[in-house]
Amino acid sequence: MTGHTLWWLILLFLIQRFSCEIHPENPFKLQDSNLTATEGSCIEIKCQIIKSVSDGPASWFWMKDAVWINGSFSATTIFSSSESKHPVNAHFAKRVKYISSPSSSWKNPPSSLCSILIRDLNKTDTGNYSFRYVGTSSSDIWTTQPFTNLTVTENPCLLTFEEPKNVTENGNVTLTCSTLSSCTSGLKIEGPSASLSQSKPENPKKTTLSFKVTWEDDGRMFSCQTENNTDPCLIRNISLTVGYAPKDMSANISSNIVKEGESVSFTCSAKGQPEPTFTWTKDGRDLDSKANWMISSITASQNGSYICKAVNKYGSKELVVTVGVICEYCFT
Ligand SMILES: *[C@@H]1O[C@H](CO)[C@@H](O)[C@H](O)[C@H]1NC(C)=O
Ligand SMILES: *[C@@H]1O[C@H](CO)[C@@H](O)[C@H](O)[C@H]1NC(C)=O
Ligand SMILES: *[C@@H]1O[C@H](CO)[C@@H](O)[C@H](O)[C@H]1NC(C)=O
Ligand SMILES: *[C@@H]1O[C@H](CO)[C@@H](O)[C@H](O)[C@H]1NC(C)=O
Ligand SMILES: *[C@@H]1O[C@H](CO)[C@@H](O)[C@H](O)[C@H]1NC(C)=O
Ligand SMILES: *[C@@H]1O[C@H](CO)[C@@H](O)[C@H](O)[C@H]1NC(C)=O
Ligand SMILES: *[C@@H]1O[C@H](CO)[C@@H](O)[C@H](O)[C@H]1NC(C)=O
Ligand SMILES: *[C@@H]1O[C@H](CO)[C@@H](O)[C@H](O)[C@H]1NC(C)=O
Ligand SMILES: *[C@@H]1O[C@H](CO)[C@@H](O)[C@H](O)[C@H]1NC(C)=O
Ligand SMILES: *[C@@H]1O[C@H](CO)[C@@H](O)[C@H](O)[C@H]1NC(C)=O
Ligand SMILES: *[C@@H]1O[C@H](CO)[C@@H](O)[C@H](O)[C@H]1NC(C)=O
Repeated sequence: MTGHTLWWLILLFLIQRFSCEIHPENPFKLQDSNLTATEGSCIEIKCQIIKSVSDGPASWFWMKDAVWINGSFSATTIFSSSESKHPVNAHFAKRVKYISSPSSSWKNPPSSLCSILIRDLNKTDTGNYSFRYVGTSSSDIWTTQPFTNLTVTENPCLLTFEEPKNVTENGNVTLTCSTLSSCTSGLKIEGPSASLSQSKPENPKKTTLSFKVTWEDDGRMFSCQTENNTDPCLIRNISLTVGYAPKDMSANISSNIVKEGESVSFTCSAKGQPEPTFTWTKDGRDLDSKANWMISSITASQNGSYICKAVNKYGSKELVVTVGVICEYCFT
């Protein structure tokens, strides 16, 4: 290598370093500048970390329609790593999910993500979205440029599928799924059991499914969608809550016959909706309000019957267990 070439290399190196310091590269980048999605569906706004960010405490958040005014951003915060610094707008709080790698892996670009997913899109969600990162030093503050321009288009088949209220065991339930008058597709409700018959309605904008519920239907999922739908985000899911009195109860004891001084544990369980509460009693006296408890050192006077009672607002159920205490040194 000639001296001439070496000088050129050094010069190139210096130019590169220098230009990097003048224009440090933004570590955060949004993948799309224009996105379109349907009302009621969901969309992921993809954000990538293309360069490692410095360590140390930082906060980051997503902004909608940010405008730079008097030295700071005025925007709607739709996700925030620090709710106390940047509270999230209530209209977005339940619909936005942050999709990322943990901040510790922000040192390993470009694998890391800073994306968000917005569910149940509303036409008012149309706007400009950007990600902002605020590190500890003033040279460690970044905002993605350009932003992502999201357009939410009208959905002629927007669905409404509501969770039925106050369903109790052996009651009749009717699930109703309805859509807008602009919709030309049929609707279908699907449940865990194919035997359930669905009324073929005279009004095609509304379909219903009626059946008698049992306690086993509690927690079952039902979905509604248009007949030819292919978008999973446009499936409306509900989970049925069926109120029922305590059932499938069991009360148990670690050992039915114990020696004085030994420990005895009591366990009790039951299904119910709402979740039952438990009490243990002996000879009419309350002992414990936990389902599971123990006597660490039993005495002869503690022999006898113990009752576990499971209660919720729909009823109660009791079971009895008996402890016999073997008493070696009592001569009664
Ligand atoms: C985004 O949309 C605007 C306006 O329609 C257009 O000018 C721009 O080129 C689009 N950008 C990309 C990357 O498609
Ligand atoms: C989005 O950004 C563009 C370009 O800066 C601006 O013209 C437009 O008004 C913005 N839209 C909203 C809803 O803020
Ligand atoms: C920006 O600051 C100036 C002077 O402090 C004030 O007159 C102006 O109203 C502010 N603008 C906004 C949009 O707050
Ligand atoms: C969209 O948002 C507006 C304003 O928050 C609200 O009034 C409207 O009901 C929403 N539309 C749907 C379909 O949820
Ligand atoms: C945002 O997208 C919409 C629809 O694609 C377009 O009409 C609008 O011009 C875009 N705005 C910008 C700032 O790119
Ligand atoms: C549901 O039940 C509660 C009490 O259990 C009652 O106050 C309420 O009115 C009921 N709601 C409906 C819609 O039946
Ligand atoms: C449920 O519906 C069936 C048939 O429609 C009826 O015979 C029954 O009385 C109803 N039960 C309740 C609890 O409403
Ligand atoms: C839905 O798909 C079926 C065949 O899979 C077709 O016969 C029907 O016309 C389609 N309906 C609509 C509204 O596209
Ligand atoms: C509803 O459930 C189906 C199947 O479990 C799932 O694919 C779909 O994403 C769910 N839809 C929503 C909006 O959560
Ligand atoms: C009762 O306890 C015994 C011993 O701890 C255990 O083997 C048994 O499965 C329990 N039975 C129930 C119904 O919990
Ligand atoms: C408990 O002990 C008392 C006195 O020793 C005895 O009278 C009683 O029968 C015992 N009960 C049980 C269930 O073992």
